[in-house]
Amino acid sequence: MLLLPASVLIGLLCLSHAGAVWGFARLLDDRELCSAFSVARTNSMEGGPKMTVTFDTIYVNIGGDFDPKAGVFRCRIPGAYYFSFTVGKFPHKDLSVMLMKNRNEVQAIVYEENAGEERKVQSQSIMLQLEFGDTVWLRLHGDPRYALYSNTGHYTTFNGYLVYPDTYGYQTHHQSAYNSQQPEQAKSPLLNSNQATEQDRSATRDTQEEKELQHREEEEEEDEEDDQRSAFSVGRTQSIMGVNQVGMPQHQPISFDTALVNIGEDFNVTGGVFTCRVPGAYYFSFNVGKLPQKTLSVKLMKNHLEVQAMIYDDSQGEKALQSQSLMLSLKPGDTVWLYSHQRDGFGAYSNHAKYITFTGFLVYPDFPISQSYADKKP
Ligand SMILES: *[C@@H]1O[C@H](CO)[C@@H](O)[C@H](O)[C@H]1NC(C)=O
Repeated sequence: MLLLPASVLIGLLCLSHAGAVWGFARLLDDRELCSAFSVARTNSMEGGPKMTVTFDTIYVNIGGDFDPKAGVFRCRIPGAYYFSFTVGKFPHKDLSVMLMKNRNEVQAIVYEENAGEERKVQSQSIMLQLEFGDTVWLRLHGDPRYALYSNTGHYTTFNGYLVYPDTYGYQTHHQSAYNSQQPEQAKSPLLNSNQATEQDRSATRDTQEEKELQHREEEEEEDEEDDQRSAFSVGRTQSIMGVNQVGMPQHQPISFDTALVNIGEDFNVTGGVFTCRVPGAYYFSFNVGKLPQKTLSVKLMKNHLEVQAMIYDDSQGEKALQSQSLMLSLKPGDTVWLYSHQRDGFGAYSNHAKYITFTGFLVYPDFPISQSYADKKP
């Protein structure tokens, strides 16, 4: 995941003569607009007055925005960031780690089963919209009953990277003005075949029909330029209880009450459904808490098909968390949503700490879109 911005950058450099295919991607050709970190902790930590989880191993720190000694990420480039963290449970201790934005709790990992001898590892992930100077950090509960476990096996890790910088709107505008001044020969050889079509087109452009077509194309282009980004991250602060229903009721999506990010407004928060607007490859992740004495069965659905299932069937167990992620290729109108089994004995746990979250974002738009986008340049 952390390599994505770098690969966007590479793709971009290849196309730099043709101008940016995606306005936002072009930003990444400036190294100063990259931000990513991945850090690990090689020893355990017990709850105490100093609650910020610090790190001693750095895998990635592009932009230097993460201070491992302080344990704090400080936003330098405003935008939407994806964060994930994994913590280990210390034997005979409780585990309670919060992802914090400034002084506010955003998301938690809590595992209360101190009788348990065993070590466990839990993960969470979320997207956050950050302003300049915002800090993001992990907080361990201050009571010594709590501890997190790690050793050289790096059970405790923290990652984050910039998915979409905020300057997109400005940059797109700026970019199209720049493109219109570009001389013909500045085009990349990649576009030669399209150039030919374009010349054919200009030869017959005089007819009224053609003018209308062109006008329509320009309108479409404007719409596309509006926002080629798509990202959401939503949370639910209430548990879900399955109840028996008569007959064969329609599967209902899990609904949400908190939107942390909704770029493009493609996610209907109350309806719980993401509808694809920009075709392409999307990354999705979801986290769900398990209710004591209930079976957890949550499925990621694409349209009306199950794509990925999360099952946790352990009726003795206390609370636990599960996380899953995958990528999907989507067409406009495709829907993606979560379904929790609607029968007695099933359920999912959440509270204000948002154990149930759902995140998704466009990683790469489909190539035909970028092609047609490039096509229309003068
Ligand atoms: C969101 O979903 C709800 C429930 O399905 C629906 O009533 C509402 O109209 C939807 N909102 C939008 C903006 O589509």
